[in-house]
Amino acid sequence: MKPWSGRFTGETARSVEAYTDSTKVDARMILEDAWGSEAHAIMLARQEIISEQDLKKILKALKQLRRDYTAGRFKLDPALEDVHMNVEAYVTAKAGEDAGGKLHTARSRNDQVLTDAKLVVRKRLLTVMDLTLRLQKTLISLARRNSKTVMPGYTHTQAAQPITFAFWASSYASALSRDVSRLEGAYRTTNKSPLGACALAGTSHPIDRKLTARLLGFDGLVEHALDAVSSRDFMAESLSSLAILMNSLSRLAEDIILFSTSEFGFITLSDEYTTGSSIMPQKKNPDVAELLRGRTGRVYGLLFSLLSTLKGLSSGYSRDLQEDKPPLFEAFDVAESSLAVLNGMVDSMKLNKKKMSESAAAGFLCATELADYLVREKGVPFRKSHRMVGQTIKALIKKGQDFSDVAQVEAILKAKKIEVAAKQLEKILNPNKAVYAHSSLGGTSPREVGKIITSLKNDIIRREQRTRKWENKIALAQKMTARAAAGVLAGKPLSKLLH
Ligand code: ARG
Repeated sequence: MKPWSGRFTGETARSVEAYTDSTKVDARMILEDAWGSEAHAIMLARQEIISEQDLKKILKALKQLRRDYTAGRFKLDPALEDVHMNVEAYVTAKAGEDAGGKLHTARSRNDQVLTDAKLVVRKRLLTVMDLTLRLQKTLISLARRNSKTVMPGYTHTQAAQPITFAFWASSYASALSRDVSRLEGAYRTTNKSPLGACALAGTSHPIDRKLTARLLGFDGLVEHALDAVSSRDFMAESLSSLAILMNSLSRLAEDIILFSTSEFGFITLSDEYTTGSSIMPQKKNPDVAELLRGRTGRVYGLLFSLLSTLKGLSSGYSRDLQEDKPPLFEAFDVAESSLAVLNGMVDSMKLNKKKMSESAAAGFLCATELADYLVREKGVPFRKSHRMVGQTIKALIKKGQDFSDVAQVEAILKAKKIEVAAKQLEKILNPNKAVYAHSSLGGTSPREVGKIITSLKNDIIRREQRTRKWENKIALAQKMTARAAAGVLAGKPLSKLLH
C-alpha cells in the first residue's frame, strides 16, 4: 500500500512505477534519511507533538534500520518510489502505525529530500576540498624541489620565454586555490537546513526548526519555506564549482599529455599511470590524462543538464526536481576519481631536466631579454628594439643559426650601430639568468615563486583547518543525535538529554 493511497481507487501502472522510481540514486541517501528522521522525530517529541513513548518506538525502528542497512539487508523497494517512503514504511512496519504513522507529522518529502541531499552534498564537498588540497600540496612539493629547473614557457603552444618548472607547477596550485574557495562557497550555501519548510508553506504544528538544524549539524536555516522547497541553487553552485575545478584539472592533464610526448620529452609518466597499445609495442600512452580531459566535457554536460532542469519551473516543488541528483552525484564521482588519479600521476612522474634546459636554450626564447636590455642600457625605445631584435632573428634564421652563436648576434647588432660585447650577450641570452631577472611581482624568478609558494602553503593550512572544523561539526551533530536517541531508548526523558 502506498502512503498516499487514500485518495486513489486504482493501482499505479507498472510502467509508471518504473518511470517515477528514484530508488537507485536514493540508495546513496539512506543513512541521511535515517538521520533526518531521527532528528525530526526527536524534535516532534521535544515539542510535545508526539509522545516520548512513540518517539522511543520510532527510534528503535530506525536503529534496526541502520543495523539492517549495515548488514546489507535493507534494500529500497522501487514500488515505494523513493528512500523517504521506504524508510517510513520500514519504521511503520516495525513500530506499528500508532507510533510509526506519526513520523511524517509536520514533514513533507519536499523538505525531506532536500535535507537528505544536503547532508550528502556537504560531505562530498568536503571530500573534494580535501582531495584538491592534497593535489595542491603535491604540486607545491614538486615546485619546491625544482625552483631552479629551467624550461620553456609557452604561448600558442609555441616556445615563448624561459620559466622554471616551479613556476609552471605552482601556477596550477594557485588556480586550484580559487577552485577550493568556490567549493567553500558552495559548502556555505549548502549547509543551511530546509527541514521544517514542509510541503511549501510551513506547518500549523509548533515545530522547532532550529533544533533539527542543530541535530543535523547545519549552520542555520533556509528560513523561507517556499524558497527552501523551490530552490536548488546550492546544487547549481556545487556542480558549477565542480565543472570549473574540472577545467583546471583538464588543463593540467593537457600539459602533462604534451610534456610527456617524445617531441617535448619534459616528463616521463610512471608505468602505473599509463597504458600500452594492443598493436604498437613501443607505446606508453597517457590515457588517464586523456580520460580526465574527456570526462571534463561530461561534467559540463551534467551542469547543463541540471541548469536546464531548474529553468522554467513554477514555484513550489515539481517532480522535475527528482532529476537534480543524478547529474550532481555523477559530477562528484567524476571529480573525486579524477583528483585521486591525477594526484598519483603528478606525484609519480619523472622530470627530464636536461631536455627541459636544452629546449629552453634552443631557438630564441631570450629575444625579449635582448630587447629589454637595449631599452635599459642603450636607451632604445621598446618598439624599435623589438624591431631590431626581430631583424636580428630573421638574419640568424636565414643563416641557419640561433642565439647560441653570440659572435653572429654581436656582428648583426654592430651593423645596426649597437655595440654589445659577445661576453655580455652570453649573459643576456642565458635562460638560467633570464629567469632570475624576471623578479617583478608574481614573475618566474625563484624569489617570487618562493614567496607565492609560502603564501599558498599558508592558504592550504588555513583551509585544512576550516575543513577539519566543518568535519568536526558534522561528527559532533551526529554524536548529539545518536546520544539523544540512545538516551531515549534507555528510558531517559528528553528534557534531560537536550538542552
Ligand atoms: N524522489 C523525489 C525527489 O527526488 C522526492 C520528493 C518527492 N516529492 C513529491 N512531492 N512527490 O525529488
